Amino acid sequence: MSFIRCECVWKIYNEAKPYEVRALEDVSLNIEKDSFVIFTGPSGSGKTTLISIIGCIDRQTRGRVYIDGKDLTDLSDIALSSLRQKRTGFVFQNFNLIQGLPAWENVSMPLIPMGIKENNRKHTAIHLLKRVGLSERHEHSPEEMSGGEQQRVAIARALVNNPDIIILDEPTSNIDVDAVGLLIDILSDLKREGKTILMASHDENMLKNADIIHELKRGRLVK
Ligand SMILES: Nc1ncnc2c1ncn2[C@@H]1O[C@H](COP(=O)(O)OP(=O)(O)O)[C@@H](O)[C@H]1O
Ligand SMILES: [Mg+2]
Repeated sequence: MSFIRCECVWKIYNEAKPYEVRALEDVSLNIEKDSFVIFTGPSGSGKTTLISIIGCIDRQTRGRVYIDGKDLTDLSDIALSSLRQKRTGFVFQNFNLIQGLPAWENVSMPLIPMGIKENNRKHTAIHLLKRVGLSERHEHSPEEMSGGEQQRVAIARALVNNPDIIILDEPTSNIDVDAVGLLIDILSDLKREGKTILMASHDENMLKNADIIHELKRGRLVK
């Protein structure tokens, strides 16, 4: 079986209500380990919904999703969120950082529930911030940083649990051109390390670098 597998996945918001939305319709796909996969398609086509389901942040309405042979469908909420913590790192479109909190604390936040001591958390966070080119910025909070820098803090946070799947939602929509170059460098390093990278994007620079491009139209996978 492929590393990630979606079988006939549907996501219907507000099912059977007058304002029902079919965000995903019958999506089946396989993703191999260590690949860089982009989901493209117009706004509203279901990209965020699909990567959120694969990233264990949301659940499908129907169909099955497997990660590394494990069926996510019948997992309890606790088991699903524990799988998310172990295996996936998600970089949100708006970064979801906490304003007023130093970069290192933002990065190390996911380690708090694991009972890791502050010294160790800070050490790990500073190491990851260095990796994304922010070695001098660990005491700065998000509002003191550019869009590209905030995104790199968000990437460092996504890496803090050493996940093997990194998911990024439209990562070039809130950053400038120089930051796009840096992002591509970071992603190729991660790929070399054996991470599987999934992304929602319609940015030409990103599409050029992808191994596989899937296209969504009105919730259906058309390519
Ligand atoms: N929580 C929600 N409740 C109802 N409809 C939603 C919700 N989230 C997304 N949708 C709808 O689902 C469709 C797909 O959305 P989304 O996955 O965000 O698309 P994309 O990321 O490609 O822009 C859109 O029509 C959107 O309005
Ligand atoms: Mg989206």
